[in-house]
Amino acid sequence: MSVRVINIILGSIMAIAIVLSFAATRDFSKPHYEVMPDMYHSPAYHAFEQNENTDNGRTLRPPAEGSIPRGMLPFEYVLTEEDALRAGAELINPKAPDDMNSLARGATAYAIFCQHCHGASGVGDGMVAKRGFPPPPSLLIEHAIKMKDGQMFHVTTVGQGNMPAHAAQVSRQDRWDIINHIRTLQAVAIREAAKAPPETPQSIEKNSEGAQP
Ligand code: HEC
Repeated sequence: MSVRVINIILGSIMAIAIVLSFAATRDFSKPHYEVMPDMYHSPAYHAFEQNENTDNGRTLRPPAEGSIPRGMLPFEYVLTEEDALRAGAELINPKAPDDMNSLARGATAYAIFCQHCHGASGVGDGMVAKRGFPPPPSLLIEHAIKMKDGQMFHVTTVGQGNMPAHAAQVSRQDRWDIINHIRTLQAVAIREAAKAPPETPQSIEKNSEGAQP
C-alpha cells in the first residue's frame, strides 16, 4: 500500500471522527437545524448593540431628564433654614402616630441610630455626647415638641449644625417611624412634667433632709 493511500484512509477516518464527534455532542433538547427559523431570532436590538437608527449609533438611550430609579423618591430640600421650614410645612408623615408597628420599628431604629447622641429618653445625654461630642439639644423641650414632623424628617435626612445627615444609613420609612417614637418620648415627658409636684421650698427641704445619712 502506498503512503498516499494510507494518508487518504487516515484522512477519511479523521474526517469521519470529526463529524461523529459533532454528532455525539449534539444537544438533543434543541433542534439541530433551523429549517424555518421564523421567530427564533428576535429582531430586537440588544442594549449594547450598535444601532443605525439612533443619532449617536447606540441602542441604549440615556434616561429622560427628571427620571428617577425605581423605588427611589426624590428629596427636594437642601440644608438651609428655609428648606427646613418648607419641609415642615409640606411633608406629611405617612405613618399614623398610633401605628403600633411604626412605633415598634421607630423605637428599634432610634436605639440604633440616634440614642448614642440623643440619649434613650431623648434628653440629649447619649454616650457620644457624654464623651465630648457637642451635646444635642433635648428633644423633649418646646422647640422640638413644636417642630413639625416634616422638619424633623428634614433634620434627620440632611442634618443640622453638628448633627450629621442620616439619609444614607436610615431608610425613609424608618425615619418617619423614628419621628413617631420621638413623639411618644415627648408625650411621656409632658405627662411626667404634669405629674411632678411643683417645687416648693418645703419639698426641696424635705428632699434634702431625706438625702441626709
Ligand atoms: C452624632 C450625634 C447625633 C446623632 C447620631 C443624631 N443626632 Fe440629632 N442632633 C445632634 C446634634 C448635635 C443636634 C443639634 C444640631 C444643631 O446644632 O442645631 C441634633 C439635632 C437634632 C434635631 C433638632 C432638635 C432641635 O430642637 O433643633 C432632631 C429632630 C434630631 N437631632 C433628630 C435625630 C434623629 C431622629 C436621629 C437618629 C436618626 C439623630 N438625631 C441622630 C446630634 C446627633
